[in-house]
Amino acid sequence: MTSPEKMRPGSSCPPAAETRAECLERIAALKQRLADEVLILGHHYQQDDILAFADHSGDSYALSKAAAASHQRRVIFCGVHFMAETADMLTAEHQAVILPDLEAGCSMADMATVEQVRTAWELLTEGGRRSVTPITYINSSAALKAFVGEHGGAICTSSNAAKVVAWALGRSERLFFCPDQHLGRNTCHALGIPLGRMAVYDPRLPGGGLEPAQLETTQIFLWYGYCDVHQGFTLEDVAAVRLEHPEAKVAVHPECCHEVVAASDFAGSTEALIRFVTEAPVGSVIAVGTEINLVQRLTARFPGKRVFSLSPYQCLCSTMYRIKPERLLEALEAIAAGEPKNLVSVPRELRRPALLALERMLAIS
Ligand code: 13P
Ligand code: SF4
Repeated sequence: MTSPEKMRPGSSCPPAAETRAECLERIAALKQRLADEVLILGHHYQQDDILAFADHSGDSYALSKAAAASHQRRVIFCGVHFMAETADMLTAEHQAVILPDLEAGCSMADMATVEQVRTAWELLTEGGRRSVTPITYINSSAALKAFVGEHGGAICTSSNAAKVVAWALGRSERLFFCPDQHLGRNTCHALGIPLGRMAVYDPRLPGGGLEPAQLETTQIFLWYGYCDVHQGFTLEDVAAVRLEHPEAKVAVHPECCHEVVAASDFAGSTEALIRFVTEAPVGSVIAVGTEINLVQRLTARFPGKRVFSLSPYQCLCSTMYRIKPERLLEALEAIAAGEPKNLVSVPRELRRPALLALERMLAIS
């Protein structure tokens, strides 16, 4: 109980900092008490007060592998919904996956429903007569992953997209890449496919916005989806950094648009961006184009280097940010009370085909 002299003047609420400090203490105590039972996974975009409690932090690929290797009965996933679904599919029946806030989704994943993708598939494959390999970025629903698994395709993450695309090109000349057009375009271009051989399918337009001739000439069909956070980085941002800091390196996530990636010195997953900054010599100046929590952590971690955001604006993933310490505490308290809440469970009928696509990814990478 907070003593009255610690109250804010004119308020019945305790000071925010103290409330947060109490919350963190209680998380620490519960985590210790439940150590045999609970594993906490945290994505790199989580806030520091969450990552401080993560047993593993990583990019989507590393966290999938950590989930697959886990044995604890409860896995608390501090990330977004598609990550928790993936973890659920990669863990055993007796393990429960918990997302501390069920509203923590991914706007890009929401841009491709399986019904829309099915309609596109009919068109692009001419009702199954034309050979196309589907790939879905891991930022997608379990239903879309299941569709891809059923149609001979695989899942990719930003760290293994090149390997998965190369594998898919060995199966068919044409690919259908969902839902991130930028990751698809950047990956295929890096593998030598000209931009002119790619076209965007937009489900909001008749025929996906494609001319009949494009159905013949296109090699890579890209779903129109994108990440609001990464699409916020622009060519003007790169130009401004080059002008102000000619010695700077620009490192971005491949969810940024192609023009930005092409103008940068490096593009890679969150894990790869961390490695890039870690391995840069002391004194380096690096503008990083990704979510702000990760950039700020890198700035603090490497005081001998000048690390800053590529954008002058706050590029925050607001859904990742929904996982607050208060939500983590509630998740732990519910487990301690024997009534875990916010479970994420993929329906059995989706699990098998989605796992097929996931296992293909793990085998390829
Ligand atoms: P990473 O797999 O690179 O961590 O990316 C996940 C993501 O959602 C980036 O926006
Ligand atoms: Fe989704 Fe973008 Fe947030 Fe990543 S940063 S979880 S792609 S909305």
